[in-house]
Amino acid sequence: MSDNSITSRLYPTRIDIPAEARVQIVVLLNQTLAATSDLKTQAKQAHWNVKGTDFYQLHLLFDELAGELEGYIDMVAERVTALGGYAFGTARAAASNSILPEYPLDILDGKDHVTALADRYALYAKHLREAIDKTDELGDLDTADLYTEISRTIDKRLWFLEAHLQVAEIKAENGKAATTKTQKIPAGVK
Ligand SMILES: [Fe+2]
Repeated sequence: MSDNSITSRLYPTRIDIPAEARVQIVVLLNQTLAATSDLKTQAKQAHWNVKGTDFYQLHLLFDELAGELEGYIDMVAERVTALGGYAFGTARAAASNSILPEYPLDILDGKDHVTALADRYALYAKHLREAIDKTDELGDLDTADLYTEISRTIDKRLWFLEAHLQVAEIKAENGKAATTKTQKIPAGVK
């Protein structure tokens, strides 16, 4: 969000957290709000477009992820306003302020959707963990606690997504290791 005069403006409030800290926390929370909205719509995109033999279980899982993120959108936006800040929750604000890459719109296969979401959940999880530290340093343990709550669930969801991919990834790693081992055998050795 480019308009600093709006992003750093606070409403008058009786809360006892210093304004200098609240300005920084509100900017961070608005970044999280954008990323959460973005990720929620990406999970819905996957929910609607997934195809393949695992269609139904993935269709349901992706909707569950989107519903969970919808709850976080509200929690994050309301923490912004509790701190006296302006919440920027429109689709356009999300698009311009999200840390996540755009979702690939042309994929269909279940594995491709799971991979695309796992990549984005990992970035979102990293952002949340950094935000826990930042809000802790700024002395706002309530916001740090909110981030911790979201972070714990997002890590679990990343596990759910990656569990669909790990067998193939482990096999690919083992295959690579076997190939490397074969290549290391000196010429002429039987
Ligand atoms: Fe639906």
